[in-house]
Amino acid sequence: QSADRGAFRGRTAFIFAAIGSAVGLGNIWRFPAVAYDNGGGAFILPYLVALLTAGIPLLFLDYAIGHRWRGSAPAAWRRFRRWTEFIGWWQVLIALIIALYYALILAWATNYTIFSLDQRWDSHPDGAAGFFGEYTQALGGADVAVSFDYVPAVLISMLAVWITVIVVMALGVQKGIAASSVVFIPLLVVMFIILVVRSLFLPGAIDGLDAFFRPNWAALADPGVWIAAYGQIFFSLSVAFGIMLTYSSYLKKKTDLTGSGLVVGFANSSFEILCGIGVFSALGFMAQAQGVAIDEVVVAGVGLAFIAFPTIISEAPAGALIGVLFFGSLVLAGFTSLISIVEVVIAAVQDKFGLARVSSTLLVCVPIAVVSTVLFSTTMGLPLLDVMDKWANEYGIVAAALVSSLIVAFVVRGMPTLRDHLNFRGTFHIGRWWYACVAIIAPLVLGVSLIISTVSLLSADGTYEGYPGWFVLVFGWLMAIGLVVVAVILSLIPWPAGSNLYKAD
Ligand code: PHE
Ligand code: NA
Repeated sequence: QSADRGAFRGRTAFIFAAIGSAVGLGNIWRFPAVAYDNGGGAFILPYLVALLTAGIPLLFLDYAIGHRWRGSAPAAWRRFRRWTEFIGWWQVLIALIIALYYALILAWATNYTIFSLDQRWDSHPDGAAGFFGEYTQALGGADVAVSFDYVPAVLISMLAVWITVIVVMALGVQKGIAASSVVFIPLLVVMFIILVVRSLFLPGAIDGLDAFFRPNWAALADPGVWIAAYGQIFFSLSVAFGIMLTYSSYLKKKTDLTGSGLVVGFANSSFEILCGIGVFSALGFMAQAQGVAIDEVVVAGVGLAFIAFPTIISEAPAGALIGVLFFGSLVLAGFTSLISIVEVVIAAVQDKFGLARVSSTLLVCVPIAVVSTVLFSTTMGLPLLDVMDKWANEYGIVAAALVSSLIVAFVVRGMPTLRDHLNFRGTFHIGRWWYACVAIIAPLVLGVSLIISTVSLLSADGTYEGYPGWFVLVFGWLMAIGLVVVAVILSLIPWPAGSNLYKAD
């Protein structure tokens, strides 16, 4: 009996889906500020080194495991070695947590695409910042409480996001995931290029670019800058999430994996640099319009997207156009990432129980959609997102990447098999340098950054961004540790006879 897991029609479909996953909010709202804060133009050097010595090598590792062992994260890791199955479930659980709050950002961006048309934040006495506070009704700092006070505007767009996700996922790997990426990614690139061109012609744009690209070579002597470069690359390529592993399991057996990986890695970084140009042109304009130094307007994340950009949109000529292009880009980039995260969970459940596509989609997505909507459409949505993102996306995932690369390289000593698999059809041949990157460079950098972030998170009195200790403990530490415990438990549960583990592919 053979498993009906779905498949990509070919390499192009796979590459688009993989780029869709990699290109996300990290490119648009994280990279520009990270590069600026870590040497500006000089950041390109550590950034490229990190891409070549850790990002792409770990991407190859993900591909090799998923493609060689042909399964969702738990199935592939289990086939690799029976006892490594827990890594797969750990990845599934991290993906599940990220899916819960990633949808919230998409929901906001969807609303803000519409708000851009009339720039309704203009009428708020405290401008865009005040409007965002009112729109999210977010509880701040010490006021945080477990609350089920719903924010109607957010609730409605959360439902819209989840219904769209469910429809796309039910259509399957090729007709849902690949087809939407093949349409959305080119559309995103076109929209973003128009945005960049428009922003370049704003007064002050050149000063923004000058600030962004001006190299601070002295920064290269700071180890923190190198850690930041590796951090950005790990985050941006979504390695070790089980995503690339899952996607590569849908590829035909005879596929050029390494060549595809290079395309994905360089495409993601190219788009990242384009985002830096667009964002800093706009910030340069904002600084000039407000008569302040660029330094004072540089922000990342939620603050950049939902406070700085609305301000820019209001001040710029043809601001509505900028708004629709910017928030539309966020929606497209975020959507193709969200579906890749959800697929990790769907694929695992599908393999475990040997289900059909639509059943596994509904079994996974309906509960996730309900929990996500119930928890995050409330006044605690933003604080929850802040804390969970820190512990799952920036902390848990670093630990998972470290553990998996160490296990593959030193405990199982699986590198030779995986290398041969990659070289079998790969147009880009790998050898010793790949070993060095996966077994030494990546674990070293991951280990150091894990220690640094543990120390800094613990030394902040147990609080984080002003949120009280109990909140950080429950939704940060206990959540992150709980995932590992639950992953180990899940890996001990036998696979039913009808599961895909026992079916030919
Ligand atoms: N890597 C994506 C980015 O750069 C986002 C992402 C995060 C995708 C987590 C999948 C999982 O934004
Ligand atoms: Na990215």
